[in-house]
Amino acid sequence: MNTQRSFFIRTYGCQMNTHDSQKLANLLHHAGYRATDAEGDADLLIINTCSIRDKAEHHLYSDLGLLRGWRDEVPGRVLGVGGCVAQHVGDRLLARFSHLDFVFGTHNLRHVPAMAAGAVDGRRAADTSETTSLERFDLPARHAGYATETPARAFLTVMEGCDMFCSFCIVPQTRGREISRPAADILTEAKDLAAAGVREVTLLGQTVNAYGRHDVRRGNAAAKGTLGFAELLAHLDAIPGIERVRYTSPHPRFFEPDLIGAHGTLGSLCPHVHLPLQSGSDRMLGAMRRRYTRAEFFGIVEQLRAARPDIAITTDLIVGFPGETEADFLETLSAVETVGFVDHYSFKYSPRPGTAAAVLPDSDSVPGEVAQERLERLQELQRTLTLAYHRARVGHPTEVLIEGPSRRGGDQICGRDPFHRVVNIDGSAERLAPGDVVAVEVVEATPHSLIGAPESTAASERATSSVVLGQVGL
Ligand code: 5AD
Ligand code: SF4
Repeated sequence: MNTQRSFFIRTYGCQMNTHDSQKLANLLHHAGYRATDAEGDADLLIINTCSIRDKAEHHLYSDLGLLRGWRDEVPGRVLGVGGCVAQHVGDRLLARFSHLDFVFGTHNLRHVPAMAAGAVDGRRAADTSETTSLERFDLPARHAGYATETPARAFLTVMEGCDMFCSFCIVPQTRGREISRPAADILTEAKDLAAAGVREVTLLGQTVNAYGRHDVRRGNAAAKGTLGFAELLAHLDAIPGIERVRYTSPHPRFFEPDLIGAHGTLGSLCPHVHLPLQSGSDRMLGAMRRRYTRAEFFGIVEQLRAARPDIAITTDLIVGFPGETEADFLETLSAVETVGFVDHYSFKYSPRPGTAAAVLPDSDSVPGEVAQERLERLQELQRTLTLAYHRARVGHPTEVLIEGPSRRGGDQICGRDPFHRVVNIDGSAERLAPGDVVAVEVVEATPHSLIGAPESTAASERATSSVVLGQVGL
């Protein structure tokens, strides 16, 4: 019988949370645990929580209620909660759920193995202390037993925290102040990832392109070992093996000329930017404290397109923010059309306790059904734009980094192209392996993805059949 303790991590929320769960998994491997993909087999279950909207937070409470049975079924089982809700609610979670063993905050990942060990001995604990030190980045290198689902792609944290305090957002409270990692540590991690077979890195940070800005502005970047964000990208570009670099999520405010220029010059920098707009109305942008106007946002898009004409731009949008009128919403619709976003995530505003917007006098001025209807109109518009973009890609070559079997089933395999579009490739499941980069021609557009044919196949199909290669342009 295997006596090694096993763990399972349930993750909610954004890519930072996904990556925190990966860091946790690696820490637990170092502490002698093994991963299991069945919760029923786990000795340790960790829930990594999200509090960006109230729905995500309610998930945790219902999960915890249901897990009382799991925890009590087998003696020695341990249950922990981390992430943004844990940071915010802290030890009140322990008081409310008597079967919960430990709670850890977003700055305390490295204490989890000790907390889990203490729980086995019956010690319940909460550690949500905030630190402004770099210690939180001080995590062990990849353990030999640790593997991610996507071996050719990896996240790489460059900064954490947020100093922007948008009025709707709880992140500055759950993730603390901006702090940037020394560039040398980031570059060492990137080289280690390349040596382990990673070809694409996604740089992570709550306001990722704010990387190094405080140090550069104060003139102490050299002392802190940081750089401007564009300089960091240039260093990453020079690392052999790292063929693609992405970053998420940037703030429009920090698109300095050197970052825009980098999109025209750095071969590794992918032609895709996820650039959160939130609203197309200047009145709403002001109330949201976003610190840019609609025109300024369009200006950034224009400059990015001047540097890299084929760049794909995606965004985040909120509907139903306090005081949003139909006229404000129409401004959002028109902004989406003007920019021609390739895709977006949109959300109904969700008041978060402790944020500036939660105490606005008109905080419930947009009824739920109005917000829902706006969300649907926005998403309908996006479907049209996304499909038009996909159709315009038909007949064009692209390069796909293979990730694994397609969700569409059959013998399709899928990956992403440099523009971050999902590309499914027919009949290739046996020949292509995760991590391969394959040149394809886009032969079909669907609402959610592209179909590609490896270039040699596409050429012979063109010669022998009457495959129609796209007719829609943007
Ligand atoms: N309500 C709705 N959406 C929100 N977001 C952040 N906070 C809220 C909130 N209180 C959205 C923003 C952000 C994305 C990660 O989540 O669009 O860019
Ligand atoms: Fe939240 Fe605004 Fe910071 Fe983004 S920039 S994490 S939306 S406060």
